[in-house]
Amino acid sequence: MNRDLILGIETSCDDTAACLIKGNDIVSEMVYSQIVHQRWGGVIPELASRDHAKKILPTVRFIMEESGYKLSDLDAISVTAGPGLKGSVLVGLVFAKALAYMLDIPIIGVNHLEAHIFGALIGDRPPVPFIAFLVSGGHTHLYLSEKPGKYKLLGKTRDDAAGEAFDKIAKFLGYSYPGGPHIERLANEGKKERFKLPIAMKSHDSLDFSFSGIKTAAITAWENRDMNKNFSDKDLAAGLQESISQTLINKLKQAIKQTKVKTVIASGGVLANTQIRNQILELKNDNVQIIIPTKKYCTDNAMMVAYAGKFRLHNDYRSSLEFSAEPNMKLENTTFAI
Ligand code: KG4
Ligand code: ZN
Repeated sequence: MNRDLILGIETSCDDTAACLIKGNDIVSEMVYSQIVHQRWGGVIPELASRDHAKKILPTVRFIMEESGYKLSDLDAISVTAGPGLKGSVLVGLVFAKALAYMLDIPIIGVNHLEAHIFGALIGDRPPVPFIAFLVSGGHTHLYLSEKPGKYKLLGKTRDDAAGEAFDKIAKFLGYSYPGGPHIERLANEGKKERFKLPIAMKSHDSLDFSFSGIKTAAITAWENRDMNKNFSDKDLAAGLQESISQTLINKLKQAIKQTKVKTVIASGGVLANTQIRNQILELKNDNVQIIIPTKKYCTDNAMMVAYAGKFRLHNDYRSSLEFSAEPNMKLENTTFAI
């Protein structure tokens, strides 16, 4: 059997998403981004899981109807098992398990971070060795993969994730969650030289990141705005985007230098930011192969979950119906490799 028609389900944070893939084609997909969190400046876990519970069935029903396939045509279901908000992950997981049990088809629980990697590959085999650079609201992590399905942690943030820093400063400036797109819009009209924020961990050998110093410097500038008659939130946003972008690119360059690996897969919501994308793409001039999904697929979606599941399924991996949500699931602990 080909096991070709795969349903992907993603509910690990604030997006309820489903996607149907057949072979290397995306047949139909939907991402419902929750709006209940906007006024709070961040994701409220209890509101997220309740909203997923309301939206998961209509989301899956919509993509099945749009595809023209029936549930009985499905060959397998792939679902995010972690990392993420426990209650949110559980909604997708329980739904997927019930469907897999009813249809008597395989279910594959996937790691959300590995899904970001496979969303960039869209069915291609992992180009090992490669560096995975995952930059989102919950992660700023660098991994080395030398074997498909196996990952070694090179470095990670010691405090906030890059997306979290964008979100927190945007909240100070009075913008709703998620803050990254607001900061980018403001930064496009600002002058980055006006606020020189720190570039963190610049001279450290470690491949870890830190964003708390940048965040504190930005908040201090905002709190002292009355003393600066030329204060502009556009300039502050431009300065923030610049220092986060430099911090990210410095560590990525350092990781390439230390590992001598010249293929990078970069993904996660923060890579929807044009300046950060462009800076990473510029590494092509140094003969680095850069694989980044289109902006739409950098942020959370179910296409990436479907392809991560497909990779595992086609390598004879299946989850038992007993597996549970793992809020702190680590990519480096994955036991599966081919
Ligand atoms: O990957 P993602 O959708 O969800 C997580 O797994 O966290 O990433 C969401 C994060 C948020 O922090 C959001 O502010 C950030 O990605 N983000 C951006 C942009 N679009 C989304 N950050 C900077 N610029 C953007 N254009
Ligand atoms: Zn994500």
